[in-house]
Formats: sequence, C-alpha cells, structure tokens
Amino acid sequence: MNIIDGKAVSKKVKEDVKAECEQLKAKGIIPGLAVIIVGDDPASQVYVHNKEVACEACGFYSVKYALPAETTQDELNALVDKLNKDDKINGILCQLPLPSHLDDKEVINRIDPLKDVDAFHPVNVGAIMIGDYNYLPCTPAGVMELIHSTGIDVSGKKAVVIGRSNIVGKPMAMLLLHENATVEITHSRTQNLADITKEADILVAAIGKAKFVKADMVKDGAVVIDVGMNRDGNGKLCGDVDFEDVKDKCSFITPVPGGVGPMTIAMLMKNTLTAAKIQNG
Ligand code: GUN
Repeated sequence: MNIIDGKAVSKKVKEDVKAECEQLKAKGIIPGLAVIIVGDDPASQVYVHNKEVACEACGFYSVKYALPAETTQDELNALVDKLNKDDKINGILCQLPLPSHLDDKEVINRIDPLKDVDAFHPVNVGAIMIGDYNYLPCTPAGVMELIHSTGIDVSGKKAVVIGRSNIVGKPMAMLLLHENATVEITHSRTQNLADITKEADILVAAIGKAKFVKADMVKDGAVVIDVGMNRDGNGKLCGDVDFEDVKDKCSFITPVPGGVGPMTIAMLMKNTLTAAKIQNG
C-alpha cells in the first residue's frame, strides 16, 4: 500500500502556478481572486483562510468579503455584480453553504461564467459535459491529479464514484469518463453497493459519511480516493473511508487530512491563473 501525499502534489501544482504568475506579472498582469463568505460557519472560515494563504503564496491579489449572517440576497447579488465589473478581479468564489435564507443557485448563476473559478455556473457545468471547458471543478480536478501522481493509466479501468453531488460526485464521474474509464455512480439509494464498489479499480468516496467504506467493499489492489471530511465519534477528523481497515487492501490510498483537501485549493489557484490569462488574452 502506498499513501498518496496530497500535500506534496498540491505543493508542486502551486509552485507551477507561482512560476506562471511571475511571468504574467512581468507583463503587468496580477491574477485576482475575490472570496465571499457569509456568516460564521467555523469550517467555512478555515477553508476561506486557507484560500487566502494560498493566494498569497502564489503571488495573487486577493480580497475577502466577510459578510454578516443577516446579509440579504439583494446585498449579496449587488456585491457579485460589482465584482463581475471589477477588472482587478479575475475569479469570484462564494463559499458554500450559505445561510438558509440565501439562495446559492441565484448567486452562482449571477457570477460571470468567465470569473466562475469554482466551475459551478450552469454554463461551465455544461462545458465540462461536452469536454470543452475553461475551468474544471476544483475537487474533482484535484482527485484526477492525485490519480495521475500514482502513474496508473485510467483508460479502460473500472471507476466507481460513491456520491452524486453537483460539486463532487457528478463532475468526478465526468472527468473519469473523459479519461476513458468505465464509470459507475453510486449513492445512498444504491442497492448492493458493496458488490459494485468491490469491482472498482479506482474508487472515489464522496458520500459524506464517516468511515463508510470498509475493507470488504474494496477490490484487492484498488486505488482509493477519499473526498470525505467528517468528524468521528471522538471529534477527530476522518474521511469517508475507514483508512485503518482498508489500507492493506489497496495499492494507493489518500489520507484525511492531507489527501484531497490541499488539492482543492491548489486547483482553485490554477483556475484563477487561467482566469487571469483568459481575461487578459
Ligand atoms: N464549500 C465546500 N466546498 C466548496 C468549494 O469547492 N467551493 C465553494 N465555493 N464552496 C465550497
């Protein structure tokens, strides 16, 4: 069993982004990212802080808009409109989830698709479906980088995704398909789930249930990617995969933390760099 080091792979991605950012700066272009956070969800605060740190490390201009929980939809929409017109801002990200009185779909649809570095806008989602895109969604794109880092050829392999969210499960399946995997999406209503996951050469767990994937659900020698970010009974951070139970069965596995998490942010940096290039091209 080999542990895939998400910190090391993400460091390399960010170094490459930084090097390209320096070339852009020589031409007077500074990639700019605006991050909007509404309310005080502690996990979101940490994610947003980590995004700011990564921007700084890559040499980007970044602005955080921390809005109070009582912010109205009109106020949020007005901020998006302002950022859409701001030439210093190439990427706009609104951290989810939003407080329940706000409509995330309305915000996502309002972001200029060219500045949608999350790739959540329907225009960008459609572009991914047909394989003709500017931006890949950060978490699935990060997972693909981790799979590539193993040296395994995805083409022709059986890939199973557990989870069907718009942010991870659905686009994840599409990216695996683009690389010629035979893909199956499973979810909470799937019958005989273990019979399906046991056939996977590549298994991606994104179901949001702590330590859900056990050894008897995994094929010998599989590549196991854990997108989960949960707390176990003792309040300790853990993934959707029971790492201790599964680790000796697979060829490669990602840890939590230190696997997919750092990759999501690295791919956001890559998208923001791409956004600066497109908007100055
Ligand atoms: N909340 C959890 N993951 C994400 C993400 O990738 N982007 C945004 N905007 N919010 C999130």
